[in-house]
Amino acid sequence: MWLAAAAPSLARRLLLLGPPPPPLLLLLSRSSRRRRRLHSLGLAAMPEKRPFERLPAEVSPINYSLCLKPDLLDFTFEGKLEAAAQVRQATNQIVMNCADIDIITASYAPEGDEGTGTLKIDFVGELNDKMKGFYRSKYTTPAGEVRYAAVTQFEATDARRAFPCWDEPAIKATFDISLVVPKDRVALSNMNVIDRKPYPDDENLVEVKFARTPVMSTYLVAFVVGEYDFVETRSKDGVCVRVYTPVGKAEQGKFALEVAAKTLPFYKDYFNVPYPLPKIDLIAIADFAAGAMENWGLVTYRETALLIDPKNSCSSSRQWVALVVGHELAHQWFGNLVTMEWWTHLWLNEGFASWIEYLCVDHCFPEYDIWTQFVSADYTRAQELDALDNSHPIEVSVGHPSEVDEIFDAISYSKGASVIRMLHDYIGDKDFKKGMNMYLTKFQQKNAATEDLWESLENASGKPIAAVMNTWTKQMGFPLIYVEAEQVEDDRVLTLSQKKFCASGPYVGEDCPQWMVPITISTSEDPNQAKLKILMDKPEMNVVLKNVKPDQWVKLNLGTVGFYRTQYSSAMLESLLPGIRDLSLPPVDRLGLQNDLFSLARAGIISTVEVLKVMEAFVNEPNYTVWSDLSCNLGILSTLLSHTDFYDEIQEFVKDVFSPIGERLGWDPKPGEGHLDALLRGLVLGKLGKAGHKATLEEARRRFKDHVEGKQILSADLRSPVYLTVLKHGDGATLDIMLKLHKQADMQEEKNRIERVLGATLSPELIQKVLTFALSEEVRPQDTVSVIGGVAGGSKQGRKAAWKFIKDNWEELYNRYQGGFLISRLIKLSVEGFAVDKMAGEVKAFFESHPAPSAERTIQQCCENILLNAAWLKRDAESIHQYLLQRNASPPSV
Ligand code: BES
Ligand code: ZN
Repeated sequence: MWLAAAAPSLARRLLLLGPPPPPLLLLLSRSSRRRRRLHSLGLAAMPEKRPFERLPAEVSPINYSLCLKPDLLDFTFEGKLEAAAQVRQATNQIVMNCADIDIITASYAPEGDEGTGTLKIDFVGELNDKMKGFYRSKYTTPAGEVRYAAVTQFEATDARRAFPCWDEPAIKATFDISLVVPKDRVALSNMNVIDRKPYPDDENLVEVKFARTPVMSTYLVAFVVGEYDFVETRSKDGVCVRVYTPVGKAEQGKFALEVAAKTLPFYKDYFNVPYPLPKIDLIAIADFAAGAMENWGLVTYRETALLIDPKNSCSSSRQWVALVVGHELAHQWFGNLVTMEWWTHLWLNEGFASWIEYLCVDHCFPEYDIWTQFVSADYTRAQELDALDNSHPIEVSVGHPSEVDEIFDAISYSKGASVIRMLHDYIGDKDFKKGMNMYLTKFQQKNAATEDLWESLENASGKPIAAVMNTWTKQMGFPLIYVEAEQVEDDRVLTLSQKKFCASGPYVGEDCPQWMVPITISTSEDPNQAKLKILMDKPEMNVVLKNVKPDQWVKLNLGTVGFYRTQYSSAMLESLLPGIRDLSLPPVDRLGLQNDLFSLARAGIISTVEVLKVMEAFVNEPNYTVWSDLSCNLGILSTLLSHTDFYDEIQEFVKDVFSPIGERLGWDPKPGEGHLDALLRGLVLGKLGKAGHKATLEEARRRFKDHVEGKQILSADLRSPVYLTVLKHGDGATLDIMLKLHKQADMQEEKNRIERVLGATLSPELIQKVLTFALSEEVRPQDTVSVIGGVAGGSKQGRKAAWKFIKDNWEELYNRYQGGFLISRLIKLSVEGFAVDKMAGEVKAFFESHPAPSAERTIQQCCENILLNAAWLKRDAESIHQYLLQRNASPPSV
């Protein structure tokens, strides 16, 4: 933290407002490595470590007039800020945020008698290579020349790296932005261009001026300077939509353009609030840490989250682009127009957008059956994390930027989205929509907290929303509902009880937390309809289901909407299992049932062998998402059993489970197939190939050869499974071919596809080669994480090698991401698969001497997971082994 420049004019002004102040101090919060330089300018340094404090409210911005002049060759920028400010209370200081910027001059001049004035600051900074603040992004021109664009990423707390500002979400102001740029470059910002004129000092430059923004938070400001092509349309509600792509790739923007043009009117209708800006640009940025960022009017994306090539993009990329576009555009209302009051309410932004992105994709692409995929992608992932002792409540108090970075996790996103889905179901769409409109209208251009949303929804629905939801957002974890049934004449009487679900087993300890749980109950009479809906607001309840015959099954949690797990009495479970085999249970209920059983096994509540038996009942399963979730759980089990000497046996099991569906699907699409068939085929062939299924391996090799020789190019949907299969069962020559394909690939999607499977390689030398490649110039900095993670997840040898590699290269890796969420992701992917107690100690000790503040909680979660794995292995390895052996001796009749 340092302070700068006295401005006598404010001191004079303040004399009018209060007692004589000491000389004015312009205080810029957060220290920078340039402190020494400031000393030489005659400015003083503040003490190093001050506890975190929010900015004082006495001075706030009204409008920022900001001009930035980036130099794309020497990676610096010059900035001029003129901020109109309001002084509410006499003070001798203006406190702002600032990081890694050199202040050249700063002054404050009061104007008029209303306490307003103008703060002027000239400064310079570096276009850094850390993918945060105002940074440079590397690209290659179609002619092969390496160049750089200047781009921004400000969320959560990095606007202060581009210009001195009040960098908190609740301190909103308008922005007049201008950029001085080479005249042959595209310059974009949140608003439309209103003026473009030659720059007086240099004929190669132009000054581009953008329209004034609405009042907005600093983290949503953005600018981009570079070379791009674009495609354009106007949505039916009159907004000009453009998708900017790398030069020569405008075609690849068309898919996202269509999605965006459909999405804007969808949200306008849903919220009943128009999109407030005249234009929206979606732009693909080469070097980009997150997936995408919702800057108001100028949404930035990773290339792989925006660009679709009709031939070379696979179905899952299309789906991902649709989801990401749906997510970021939702923020234009929920986040940008109404913004969280503080980062504690980040989940409101992210949880809500992560829910409504599915609603939007379901509207645009009903054939994706995207809500079923929600359960596998978000709901179950959230429950996995939230069952840990080291989870956290959705609403968590945060201060320091590293604590803010830490909560961009599956709790804010996926649990947030899951509890909103449950709430939406509890309220009903009509009242939910009404409440959303009340909330967005009441708080537009302002800030809101979680309770404000509850209040609007409560007014709209007349239901006790705050009381119900506080149990889900203010305490961590979720319940396990235990249920038993008894037939009493024509009725079924259920006894329900709730207890916190813990990944380590039943909750022990006093004062078990309680939830208000909306529970639905269905029966085999109509598996798609809730026979009864109740709100469970006590630890135990009895429920009478009228007219349920003795041969009917009864199931909780229709649609797997309630955020809880269910444990059935053995009799109830027995009656449900045939519904898996004969498909009379709906897909999302089959998925949920299997997933609950799997997690109960991991927690030691039931035996893993029971779950293996249930998995075998999925022989007739046709549904992609159900398979995907089952495959994921079998993957977890395989990783666990890679610590044993019967890894091969579990691979046999995988082959047995997946072969029937593999045979049904074959390699080539059949007439009339769609999106989900393509996803399913890729999943199943990948699984079989990886497990070493002979016929799959042979066919993969044959097709790979044809692909490489250019005889028959693999369809995009088959590439990942084929690459994975040939690499896993290949040699150094195969790896070299893959690396060559990587070098030749023109699309980032193809490069990523290859990067993600490289870790499948098995020999120690090849693993080293892949790890070295991960840190090479060939891999974009944001993608290094998935290469190393892929090695860790690829094999037992890979897991050890990746961990050693991280330790050996820690400084470089940490420096590359400067903390931030990518480092958490790297750590999670790399150490979570261990299953030996002592590894938890080793991981903990390493990070004690190599701190990563923004990953602290992730590290604790990883250590907890390692111990859970170890306990699971000790508990169940032997019985799993016996089951697999006995099964091989007498294969079950299918
Ligand atoms: N606001 C986030 C971007 C972000 C993430 C900023 C982390 C700072 C730190 C954006 O809306 C987002 O959530 N992006 C997601 C993609 C989305 C489809 C889940 C991402 O980047 O992963
Ligand atoms: Zn988001």
